[in-house]
Amino acid sequence: MGYVVSIIGGGSLYTLPLLQTLCSHGDGFPIDRILMYDNDKDRQRPRYMAAKILVKDMSPHTEVFEAESLEKAVKNVDYVLVQIRTGGLDMREADEKIPLLYGCVGQETCGAGGLMYGMRSIKDTLEITDAARRLSPGSWVINFSNPASVLAEAVRRYWDDGKIVYLCDMTVLMLDVFESVLGLQKGELRPRYFGLNHFGWFTNLYDKSGRDRLEELRKLLIQGDAVPAELKGDEDWVSTFRRLGRMLKDFDGYIPSTYLQYYYYPEEIVKSSDPQNTRAHIVKKTKEKRVENICSNIIHRSTTAGSGLGTNGSGKYIMDFIEATLHPDENREFLIPVKNGGAIPNLDRDATVEIPCIVSRDGVRKLFVGEVPHFYKGLIENQYASERLVVDGVLENDLDKCLKGFVLNRTIGDINTAKALLTDMLAQNKEWLPELYERSRRLLE
Ligand code: G6P
Ligand code: MN
Repeated sequence: MGYVVSIIGGGSLYTLPLLQTLCSHGDGFPIDRILMYDNDKDRQRPRYMAAKILVKDMSPHTEVFEAESLEKAVKNVDYVLVQIRTGGLDMREADEKIPLLYGCVGQETCGAGGLMYGMRSIKDTLEITDAARRLSPGSWVINFSNPASVLAEAVRRYWDDGKIVYLCDMTVLMLDVFESVLGLQKGELRPRYFGLNHFGWFTNLYDKSGRDRLEELRKLLIQGDAVPAELKGDEDWVSTFRRLGRMLKDFDGYIPSTYLQYYYYPEEIVKSSDPQNTRAHIVKKTKEKRVENICSNIIHRSTTAGSGLGTNGSGKYIMDFIEATLHPDENREFLIPVKNGGAIPNLDRDATVEIPCIVSRDGVRKLFVGEVPHFYKGLIENQYASERLVVDGVLENDLDKCLKGFVLNRTIGDINTAKALLTDMLAQNKEWLPELYERSRRLLE
């Protein structure tokens, strides 16, 4: 008997590379059935048609279905893989563009854009989690939707469950780079890390012999431009990794996630951004076009061979995680956002922190991290309070809390800016947040 896997957000650009990885595991991860669901049926259709061909080529015993409803998609399944983008790439564009018009960082998961993306996605996320828990109580619910910190925080209010997890490939992409710069084997480094999602720091990097290579790596990263192989042709990611060297030059100590650039250099980032040509535009022109081409290629030729379809880092990471969940005692480590509960004693016990966890068939167990120094503690507390307030704001329909969340965010700060920005963004998001939108119309009076 094989497994049943559900993919929620089947229309995603990540679906086909993910399926390619899942289906290439043969007896290691036999799949009987894959159920695909997307609330945008038209977007999922070509992915589904290509998926049927992919499965025929790679895993003929697996069946793929297009589920008619969320309920049908998550009923009696073993793994629910969630990769939604509420509002699609058009709303990503709004999240990135509007803050820039107010002189603030415009980014998918950081600053005002990240907060609003989270606010917009909470309802869908809770509905999916609720359906999965009602209809497949023991299943793994693996989310790789963004923004992971905000969504993990919202989900945790209702479920305290070691089999609902948020995964992010950023730290893995960074580890790939670290290993290649140090001349190590892929997967060799064992990281120690703390923070929030897209807001954390590597504190130690142990190689196979147990030696900490962080200091050596810091020096090498400052000297050169290191970029993950997968992102080499992508100008935005090249400059992001270039700034990593800058961050290390500016501050002693731990190695930050690349996303800290938005909080360390907001002014510089705003100056170098163009509200009319944000990352969403580029993704539409490049990644989306490429996936659409690959998809129609597979469909027209009825085979994946020669279509240009390949695996990607994110899909491989999800498969690594699934492998860890198949064993009772392999005890593999992953960096996952979980409830602090004392793992970092000098931070709120209730905070959702991204730290090393042990993963096995029974669920996720966190490792003890220890106290964090004041600089990081200050940054984390500030960011966590900002994210937590917007989660409270959405769950309670409390505009005042959302505004406080915006004001607290390092990339915003000023109350007048926060008011105008929140009002403008809620107007764009009224379809998803109607009550908050109504309330926001009084905010500028
Ligand atoms: C990394 C992050 C993801 C994010 C993605 C954006 O992989 O970990 O959370 O969604 O980058 O990449 P893109 O090419 O869409 O800007
Ligand atoms: Mn991520």
